[in-house]
Amino acid sequence: MIVGVPKEIKNNESRVGMTPAGVYELVKNNHKVYVQSTAGEGSGFFDKDYEQVGAEILESIEEVYAKSEMIVKVKEPIAKEYGLIKEGQIVFTYFHFASSEPLTKAMIESKSICIAYETVEDEDGTLPLLTPMSEVAGRMAVQQGAKYLEKPAKGRGVLLGGVPGVAPGKVLVLGAGVVGIQAAKMAAGLGAHVTIMDVNMKRLRYVNDVMPNHVVTDFSTEFSIRKHIKNHDLIIGGVLLKGKKAPNLITRDMLKEMRPGTVIVDVAVDQGGCVETTKATTHEDPVFIIDDVVHYCVANMPGAVPYTSTIALTNVTLPYVLKLANNGWQAACRSDRSLEKGLNVVEGKVVYKEIIEAFDWNEPVLI
Ligand SMILES: NC(=O)c1ccc[n+]([C@@H]2O[C@H](COP(=O)([O-])OP(=O)(O)OC[C@H]3O[C@@H](n4cnc5c(N)ncnc54)[C@H](O)[C@@H]3O)[C@@H](O)[C@H]2O)c1
Repeated sequence: MIVGVPKEIKNNESRVGMTPAGVYELVKNNHKVYVQSTAGEGSGFFDKDYEQVGAEILESIEEVYAKSEMIVKVKEPIAKEYGLIKEGQIVFTYFHFASSEPLTKAMIESKSICIAYETVEDEDGTLPLLTPMSEVAGRMAVQQGAKYLEKPAKGRGVLLGGVPGVAPGKVLVLGAGVVGIQAAKMAAGLGAHVTIMDVNMKRLRYVNDVMPNHVVTDFSTEFSIRKHIKNHDLIIGGVLLKGKKAPNLITRDMLKEMRPGTVIVDVAVDQGGCVETTKATTHEDPVFIIDDVVHYCVANMPGAVPYTSTIALTNVTLPYVLKLANNGWQAACRSDRSLEKGLNVVEGKVVYKEIIEAFDWNEPVLI
């Protein structure tokens, strides 16, 4: 198969859909790979790195789309890319169709085969192509929180690890899922005292089994959250109700209960946030302050660490890319239920029912 890796053109996106390691595997399997010039630079991979493993570098994005049977990228296509996508072309990337009707309509018109990373789903309901980005965001939440706790950043002026004779800082983690566990692990590693809360006892039992003693678990109720926010320095929001808006576990009135300079990192901002006062921010302007509480609410946290994020993402996408290239999309999806769930728009038809529901359409569902 001919596989194309275009440069991401969405604002501030430095990740790339494939690393040289991925190109190496495809070439070894007798596929042809075109990479757009400088596509990997933002993630630390240069044209010569791709050439060394057998890719051909093309100058323009138009050439990459025109010559490729399958496009492997990171972000959903933006309007400028709509017209480049051809009938029968496989596009394997994050799409988030339900949040964009124009994108959905454009992909229907293109008659391409759109396989969305975010809906590839394992038998146990986990989303293997979303997990690595939650891992990155969870770990990063502590790094950002520690930074904004510093006085010049308007935080409380607390060092999370403390020093001999001074108690460590206290970190409250809401949600013991992927984000929450990675955040708790990082905070514990810095020496902070960590409280992690969830409504799922299985998750809390697991955390209790694997974490050191300075990570304590608590069942998530409004009463217990109100108690903890009064004496924790950093609060990390990592809750998720699948397919729904995140619950407001911290309401506006609770900010007054916190000490001035408390920092909230609401990782769940992409699902509306679990703090009432959350509103999405960007890496250029990541924080705002309400009632002396610093809010960090960046919706694409992994974008700040493209080297790590690109490798983490491509580690999990590569097996599917190989399957698609080796077998074609029909056979690959027939033989792999997880990948089949990634099919969203196929040759002019929406085949993922949540998209139809999101727009109140009455179109027929294909599978
Ligand atoms: N901002 C970013 O850049 C970024 C990056 C990656 C992920 N995210 C988001 O982070 C959120 C968490 O993702 P995840 O992969 O950890 O999800 P996950 O499903 O692994 O974990 C969510 C956890 O929240 C728990 N939960 C639900 N209701 C709760 C409540 N009332 N109190 C406490 N816990 C509760 C669930 O039981 C679950 O354990 C998602 O919204 C995800 O989209 C954001």
